[in-house]
Amino acid sequence: MEQFDPFDESQQDEPFGRLRVLRDDEPIAEVAPGVFYVSRYEDIVAIARDPRTFVQGGLSPFEEGARDDDLLLLGEMNPPEHTKVRRIYSSVMSQRRLRAFEPAIRAVCDELVDGFAARGHAEMIGEYAGPIPEAVTGLLGGFPREAWPMLRPASDDQVTVRAEPPGSPAYLAARARIEAFEEYLRALIRERTRATDRPDDMLTAFIEYVDESGNPLSERKIVTLLGTDIVSGGIETTTHLLGNLLYLLLSTPGAYDRVRVQRTLVPVAVDETLRHSGPVQVLFRTPTTDVEIRGVHVPAGSMVCVGYGSGNRDERVFADPDRFELDRGASSPHLGFGSGIHLCVGAPLARLEVTQALHALLDRFPTMRLAPGFRYRRVPFFIMRGPRRLDVELSAEGTAPAPPDHPSADGSIP
Ligand code: HEM
Repeated sequence: MEQFDPFDESQQDEPFGRLRVLRDDEPIAEVAPGVFYVSRYEDIVAIARDPRTFVQGGLSPFEEGARDDDLLLLGEMNPPEHTKVRRIYSSVMSQRRLRAFEPAIRAVCDELVDGFAARGHAEMIGEYAGPIPEAVTGLLGGFPREAWPMLRPASDDQVTVRAEPPGSPAYLAARARIEAFEEYLRALIRERTRATDRPDDMLTAFIEYVDESGNPLSERKIVTLLGTDIVSGGIETTTHLLGNLLYLLLSTPGAYDRVRVQRTLVPVAVDETLRHSGPVQVLFRTPTTDVEIRGVHVPAGSMVCVGYGSGNRDERVFADPDRFELDRGASSPHLGFGSGIHLCVGAPLARLEVTQALHALLDRFPTMRLAPGFRYRRVPFFIMRGPRRLDVELSAEGTAPAPPDHPSADGSIP
């Protein structure tokens, strides 16, 4: 078997066999000069829990050093600034606010289901898993309806400016669109600041936030938190989680029906998806001093790839880890939302969205299956795991189901 290379696109659809070899034979592997891949659960958790030694790697290598605190994302910050900004998020995404939005989130899902229910087939990424987080981010974020279509392109542009060298045509085009989006956000912030009767959403919460010394957030900081952290942290990830969840339920014999009948399994299925096929497979840390991990010398300043997706398949922690299994118990210690002080701050929102989205489908479709010949193909971005598209056949309550004939009926899970 060819050696694992996290940057090789051709290995991305099915990396798990190579990752198992890595966990067994070379748990701290130098996969490129100065780039160390950490594949075992225990080591990943130890690194995540030592943020003093393993600091966040900047997500914009080409712009390193050029951005002040107002422009840094939460995921790029280190304590003590990180602790302060994280507190802002916890207040903005309170359980009370999330609960208040639950009926509106469900209404978004029902409206999308109406769009394909009678047709008998759908492409669930384009028609469902993609639009839901766009609308939910729009609703909770406090973006007016006409701004919702801007959110996914804004999220895509954030990826482009981090991946492309400054000055390249792709970089310049994305940068120009980001500037236009931020201009729009600044106008939105000013308009909302002037308003007397403000709706209870994240935009209002950011505007009204004051720290313990009574200082409000600057306009630039609100633009970063809302326009970048929330938009780019929550849209693509949630699309992939819902895509992977539906794929696993439909490719595991009996799973869709079991969850449909026994709804307490809905949150279990969501967490098992985060373990088995989490949208975020790997992230990065940088050691501040030379360290030794399992006898391997990792120099200060090197890139440490924290293989969350591999840790989630570690047979030392999860029995039969390649199986999607609804009987693992309710509190799986998976790494799908990371671990330690950077554990995903949007996790309660992501869980709420995906749970509502699944209930909306289970309520309407007693039968759903993968389209004949469907093959899982992963999005071409090595950090992420999610299907590019998901073609399904479905029958709404009262219509006859189509005959079972798709090739994944043997339950094989890529
Ligand atoms: C299924 C959906 C999601 C997945 C799988 C996911 C995954 C993750 C992971 C693995 C981390 C840890 C980063 C690290 O270790 O450096 C993280 C952090 C973060 N996520 Fe999420 N996320 C999801 C949804 C969301 C949503 C909906 C939001 C915003 C509304 C969000 C905002 C953030 C932010 C701001 C951080 C940085 C936290 C910190 O550094 O303290 N995420 N996420």
